[in-house]
Amino acid sequence: MASPKHFLDLSAVSSMDLRSMMDDARSRKQATKAGTADKPLAGKMLAMIFEKPSTRTRVSFDIAMRQLGGGALTLNHMDLQLGRGESVADTARVLSRYVDGIMIRANAHATLLELAKYATIPVINGLTEKSHPCQVMADIQTFEEHLGPIEGKTVAWVGDGNNVAVSWMHAAVRFGFKLRLACPKALFPEDEAVEWVKREKGDVEIGTDPERAVKGADCVVTDTWVSMGQSDADERKKMLAPYAVDEKLMRKAAKNAIFMHCLPAYRGHEVTEDVLEGPQSVIFDEAENRLHAQKAILAWCFGA
Ligand code: CP
Ligand code: NVA
Repeated sequence: MASPKHFLDLSAVSSMDLRSMMDDARSRKQATKAGTADKPLAGKMLAMIFEKPSTRTRVSFDIAMRQLGGGALTLNHMDLQLGRGESVADTARVLSRYVDGIMIRANAHATLLELAKYATIPVINGLTEKSHPCQVMADIQTFEEHLGPIEGKTVAWVGDGNNVAVSWMHAAVRFGFKLRLACPKALFPEDEAVEWVKREKGDVEIGTDPERAVKGADCVVTDTWVSMGQSDADERKKMLAPYAVDEKLMRKAAKNAIFMHCLPAYRGHEVTEDVLEGPQSVIFDEAENRLHAQKAILAWCFGA
């Protein structure tokens, strides 16, 4: 049996496939709005396992499956035997007998990889502590809607070098854009991602100066200072205070630069209210595009 097409990380999928998913996301959005969308996943079911909370990922995957003609089950891990110690490997093999794909939001990336190792159906990363590839697919779609092809453009990441930042690093290599990150030294992205980018010869610069990162950038991105599952909130807030995105910082970016945040946002912390609600902000387009980008990801995984 051919091995299933998992969507685990942008680094694990070819540029060609990611580009064709991006084009598919754009046409699926247009078709949905025009009322002409097809239903290539009729009769297919997606199981969605959540080990952490979610609004966007939960709703957009569920609606994506329905718009594609299929359905989805939301499974809180504490309601599964998984929550009482049944192994990931057994869970993967049991679910593979019932449904056609699994999306998981996992506390540990290792759980995602274990699930993918044992499942005989596609597994999708709906966020782990290490990465959030579905989010960044929606973000690239959003960027291109506003500013055209992302290839050769410059994106600035300001704040925590977290899971979303790592998926942006993967994306910079796969989609061929420049990425400038400004993070406190203690919160630089993890070595594995930095090494991967180096091996792939990506145009990714990591430093500590927000102004340097943002200067002339086409897009400024940030995220919460305290991700789900992190307990050192006070220390992080202290370290990240100089990395808040405000109007003054946005003025260093290109004139027509856009501002992105995957949400949920914490106003007055990583971003000021005026930037988040201002004319450069495209945060709700990003949220909307989760739906369309994920339809393209699901269609790719299911071979539809
Ligand atoms: N951006 C994002 O993944 O949001 P949720 O945590 O609400 O799914
Ligand atoms: N970095 C955040 C993203 C939330 C969508 C977290 O992991 O909590």
